[in-house]
Amino acid sequence: MKLSSSLMLLGFSSLGLSRDLSQSLLQRKLQNGFGALDSLVSRQTSSSGTHTFTQVTNHFPNDPFYGPPPLNETFIQNYIVNDTFYKPGGPIFLLNSGETSARSRGSVLLTGVVAELAQALNGMGIILEHRYYGTSFPNSGLVSSDGLTTDNLRWLTTEQSIADIAYFAQHVEVPGHEEEDLRAPGRAWILYGGSLAGAEVAFTMKEYGDVIYGGISSSGTVKVFKGYPQWYYTIQKNAPQDCIRSIEDIVDKMDFLIATNNTAALTELKTIFGLEALQDIRDFALTIAFPIGNPVFYPTNTWQELNWSPTAGSDDFFLFCDAVTASNSTFAASGVDSQLSKYTGGKKWKNLGNYANYVKENIVPLCPSGVSLDSNECFGTHDAEAWANPFDTSGNRAYLYQSCLEAGQWSEGAPLGRRTLLSRSIQPDYSEQWCQWAFPPGESNKIPASPMLERWNKFGALRIQADRLAQVDGGIDPWQYACVHSPDGFPRKDTLLRPYYKIEQGGHHWDENGLLNISAEPDFIQAIHKYEITFVKSWLADFPAWLRDLKS
Ligand SMILES: *[C@@H]1O[C@H](CO)[C@@H](O)[C@H](O)[C@H]1NC(C)=O
Ligand SMILES: *[C@@H]1O[C@H](CO)[C@@H](O)[C@H](O)[C@H]1NC(C)=O
Ligand SMILES: *[C@@H]1O[C@H](CO)[C@@H](O)[C@H](O)[C@H]1NC(C)=O
Ligand SMILES: *[C@@H]1O[C@H](CO)[C@@H](O)[C@H](O)[C@H]1NC(C)=O
Ligand SMILES: *[C@@H]1O[C@H](CO)[C@@H](O)[C@H](O)[C@H]1NC(C)=O
Repeated sequence: MKLSSSLMLLGFSSLGLSRDLSQSLLQRKLQNGFGALDSLVSRQTSSSGTHTFTQVTNHFPNDPFYGPPPLNETFIQNYIVNDTFYKPGGPIFLLNSGETSARSRGSVLLTGVVAELAQALNGMGIILEHRYYGTSFPNSGLVSSDGLTTDNLRWLTTEQSIADIAYFAQHVEVPGHEEEDLRAPGRAWILYGGSLAGAEVAFTMKEYGDVIYGGISSSGTVKVFKGYPQWYYTIQKNAPQDCIRSIEDIVDKMDFLIATNNTAALTELKTIFGLEALQDIRDFALTIAFPIGNPVFYPTNTWQELNWSPTAGSDDFFLFCDAVTASNSTFAASGVDSQLSKYTGGKKWKNLGNYANYVKENIVPLCPSGVSLDSNECFGTHDAEAWANPFDTSGNRAYLYQSCLEAGQWSEGAPLGRRTLLSRSIQPDYSEQWCQWAFPPGESNKIPASPMLERWNKFGALRIQADRLAQVDGGIDPWQYACVHSPDGFPRKDTLLRPYYKIEQGGHHWDENGLLNISAEPDFIQAIHKYEITFVKSWLADFPAWLRDLKS
């Protein structure tokens, strides 16, 4: 990690700096996980209409989990407002920025679900920056001087984050609208979030349904697992099958070499990919899987970054698959596919040449010249000191902390008996080790030996539901096993009060973004946006009665 204190200063002083500019390879890798798509979707940004709110640092002063008792501290939380479509008395559409800055979500106030709802229903759009992302840091003075130490991260929990949402809605005074009382619950607040932010929407509706009137949880990752091999299942099912089969076959053969401790053969394999410098075979296995991705981090576009919109996301995944299966390439003809046959009972490694060449051309060069491929800045993962550097305020360290504390979702090869795109040598302990390096025990906070998943799953996991909580998922989303439409979930009826909707051909929260020219959106995106307007409209019709009941 090549983070220095100068980068930290950028993080704090410059609201206008793009994250990408300040990121080393590893940092870019880490921004993925749940949020991979977000930086891609939200290229348009707008910083006008950015305001600050005085937020409570610790909503649970009596809970010993948060260390020494009652601090009555506050911090500055950013939010962005767009009132273009707002008419007095209208609803407030609040987008939870999740594991990224408010600015990087700026485009949702212009196009997509929030903008379309605001336009259709005379609402105001607001993006609330999640604590510890962007520049919204509890105890920012200490964070500026010491960085995101384990102690300084102690207020980063899901329950604090959803309490922020409720407290914000109950207390905000939006500049320019001082003459009106916009606060919840007197005003209808409708929350939206995708992915981690979507999980928080669902949790907010469970915990604060008497404050926030409604919520749309899109691809809400409401259930967390320690390891998440399911990430690959959707890809195995939906991606070009000849590509998938080739990679599975290659991984099977590699795993055989690993299981039989065939060091000489593995060295030969690493050399074919230009990655002989990597000492830990798991670092190698993870690196060659980067074009496919994983639930934790990766540096390039993957299946998760496919998007229906030509201006969002990327089709790189298909270019990768085309390259792997190109039957007429020089690599296919080079004999590389037979080079390791001697170790695998004479069996050819079909498309190994193509695959290795793709990695050589598109992944290996991401490592800056002169830097060791095996360093943390590139494809190594074993530099404890690099992990421990607290001056990464780009969001990646905060996201890693959330994984270590309560979200897990580590990379994991498929269980035995199942074919896999990621080597089975990678098990949750591989990434979990990073937690111990990154977050050494502090004075008032330490991370658990293993993530406390129950802190997340206690809200209901795959069974979570609530009135005026809409749950929208995608049928080709690699996160779908963590969402309520999981193939392992509990299907239920779709009603206006509890909308339960799967975009069959949809990826990870594909309803979030949109086009200015709505009729140019594909039919299945227009359909979900129309449905969202329909059910929110029906909720709003019942708002006066709800408010009356609440008060009585
Ligand atoms: C705690 O902070 C709030 C908000 O700043 C303030 O109104 C209140 O008086 C404070 N309470 C104590 C005990 O300091
Ligand atoms: C607010 O949204 C409208 C409509 O999408 C857009 O034209 C306008 O530029 C936005 N304003 C800001 C400050 O982003
Ligand atoms: C491979 O090496 C490991 C660790 O050195 C050992 O536990 C294992 O038994 C070996 N496996 C084989 C098949 O030799
Ligand atoms: C391989 O075949 C494809 C499709 O037929 C073609 O576009 C490409 O130019 C060929 N590549 C080579 C190296 O011959
Ligand atoms: C909007 O998209 C529709 C459908 O693609 C197209 O027919 C129309 O010309 C577009 N309108 C504008 C203003 O670009």
